[in-house]
Amino acid sequence: MDSIVIQGGNKLNGTIPISGAKNAALPLMIASLLTSDDLILENVPHLADVESLIRILTNHGVDYKVEGKKSGETSATGRTIHFKAGEIVDTTAPYELVSKMRASFWVIGPLLTRMHEAKVSLPGGCAIGTRPVDLFLECLSALGAQLDVEAGYVIGHANNGLVGAGYRFPKVSVGATHVGLMAASLARGQTILENAAREPEIVDLANCLNAMGAKISGAGTSTIVIDGVEALHGARHRVLPDRIETGTYALAVAMTGGDVVLEGAKPNLFQTALDSIEQSGTHVETVENGIRVHRNGNGILPVDITTAPFPGFPTDMQAQFMALMTRAEGQSRITETIFENRFMHVQELARLGAQISLDGQTAIVTGNEYLTGAPVMATDLRASVSLVIAGLAAEGETVVNRVYHLDRGFERLEEKLTNCGGNIERVSG
Ligand code: UD1
Repeated sequence: MDSIVIQGGNKLNGTIPISGAKNAALPLMIASLLTSDDLILENVPHLADVESLIRILTNHGVDYKVEGKKSGETSATGRTIHFKAGEIVDTTAPYELVSKMRASFWVIGPLLTRMHEAKVSLPGGCAIGTRPVDLFLECLSALGAQLDVEAGYVIGHANNGLVGAGYRFPKVSVGATHVGLMAASLARGQTILENAAREPEIVDLANCLNAMGAKISGAGTSTIVIDGVEALHGARHRVLPDRIETGTYALAVAMTGGDVVLEGAKPNLFQTALDSIEQSGTHVETVENGIRVHRNGNGILPVDITTAPFPGFPTDMQAQFMALMTRAEGQSRITETIFENRFMHVQELARLGAQISLDGQTAIVTGNEYLTGAPVMATDLRASVSLVIAGLAAEGETVVNRVYHLDRGFERLEEKLTNCGGNIERVSG
């Protein structure tokens, strides 16, 4: 199994190109199931999760074609991929494929609305909590689907097609909102989704669906209105930049010190997190081609954060922010409200010398100027990258094991950090 070996202590200086967002690319790819025409997605990141989803989509009958490199493009440019679900030949998403990644469960929405049937394995993904699917089932039932859970599969039918309805999510869910949007796009009549997720990736999906002929308004607010249409057509859509990747590199610079431009990044996609990064004493400014982050000399100030649905502080940046706080001049409190088991990085950060105690859903971090390199174990996607950025700031060598989690969500991580002076390499084993 590969590991990542980091010699800590170097400041980061230079430019890091930001990739297309994994969490937007996945639902956009799934939206290709809604039309028999071509859906062309630009700026698709090269990630293990994207490849897993391609395997699932091809099993349903989707053809795909990756465009070759064009003149002027560099390896930093995301790929353009054509998806065509001319005919859906299989409405089952099997366990072997879905168990690898939770988002693959979301195919249930397009399959039910276009094919009126679906059999989808209950999902897998990062072990950060129980992550049930009750909200998906409730929302799809509200649209008229008959759903049963049998032998690890959700089996759904909508013999006469889905029918628009009002549905209020009892809890904000990104995935269930994506599925509700896709399912309602081809339902008969109007659907009103209340207490919907407001994440930028929801807006990106709604924009793409509208380009495909859907009638969706209100995405980005908690009430989304969808007027169902009979059919959707092809479109060309560019995946928005990855705000979690952006925030992660911003936090890496905050930790190590240095001066980096995050090329293509958009501050409005994660303003709350940027504000917290600034409060820690790091300078953040919007520049023509992205966001410049720099910290030179001054210490790191402690900042309390609480994760929340967008526009709150993203849970996907909690572990990385905790890594920064381990070096702050004082104590900070980090409260996780989205997932019940998202502190698995705490014991690994402690191996680097971090002082963290847990009080229920709050981690109390006592900052300490020096971290020391050590072997650590990646436990989930975002936790893994928190160990990488802590390793960059630690003295000596850090070896991050089980890096397959990183490959699920961070494109060319070692290359991007090495280009800015980080001493980091992948060792095959
Ligand atoms: C998405 C993101 C993930 C991010 C999360 C929260 C993708 C591919 N993944 O995951 O990176 O961490 O949003 O911002 O976009 N829940 C239920 N019942 C359900 C569905 C969800 O109780 O049917 C709970 C979950 O267990 C969790 C909370 O709702 O506690 C939020 O989860 P949700 O927003 O659905 O996360 P995902 O869509 O899985």
